[in-house]
Amino acid sequence: MKNYTDVDKIIIKGNNLINMFFNIKTSGRKYPAKDTKETVISNTEKKLVVNLMRVNHSGEVAAQGLYIGHALAAKTKIQKEMMLKMAAEEKDHLEWCGKRIEELNGRTSIFNPFWFVGSVAIGILSSVSNDKNGLGFIEETEKQVASHLDSHINKIPDNDKKTIKILKKMKSDEENHAKEAHKSGANEIPLTTKKLMKIAAGVMKFTSYRL
Ligand SMILES: [Fe+2]
Ligand SMILES: [Fe+2]
Repeated sequence: MKNYTDVDKIIIKGNNLINMFFNIKTSGRKYPAKDTKETVISNTEKKLVVNLMRVNHSGEVAAQGLYIGHALAAKTKIQKEMMLKMAAEEKDHLEWCGKRIEELNGRTSIFNPFWFVGSVAIGILSSVSNDKNGLGFIEETEKQVASHLDSHINKIPDNDKKTIKILKKMKSDEENHAKEAHKSGANEIPLTTKKLMKIAAGVMKFTSYRL
């Protein structure tokens, strides 16, 4: 049985609260690494993978917040349903990242509640004017996330097939989310917004990698 520190307990409580409060369900898909053998043994590798997966876990916490924000601001039932469907798929990703971190005895980021609340606000703000602007924000977010996941796939040690499987599945989902948003009539968002999104994501990556 694992001994949790006070910080761990606060993190677990914070995450439970988030889950309880909004109660988004997973889409129920199988853990992509379920049938793959564990091959990460050295502590150096474990530490590297945990740090990278902590960043991805925080990204998925932010994705939950964004889609909940978009759903709250949606103008039509069809848009709201699309947002909740995507949120359920992001919830799968959140669980998969959390499970992988647990398998390697790591912990999630202490900043997650902050990223969650901030992302709900950003989701609402980007969708509040009209649904097509919200879709534009989603298309850009998902494109940035897919390219980020690609960079992480290259950083994960080649022998860690479990993590690579998870990240590849997530990447393909994110690409589909971008395509779905585009197909549904996404507006192109301004270049400045795209740059600001990259800066915010950079801050999240820097902090979650460490804490
Ligand atoms: Fe995701
Ligand atoms: Fe996504």
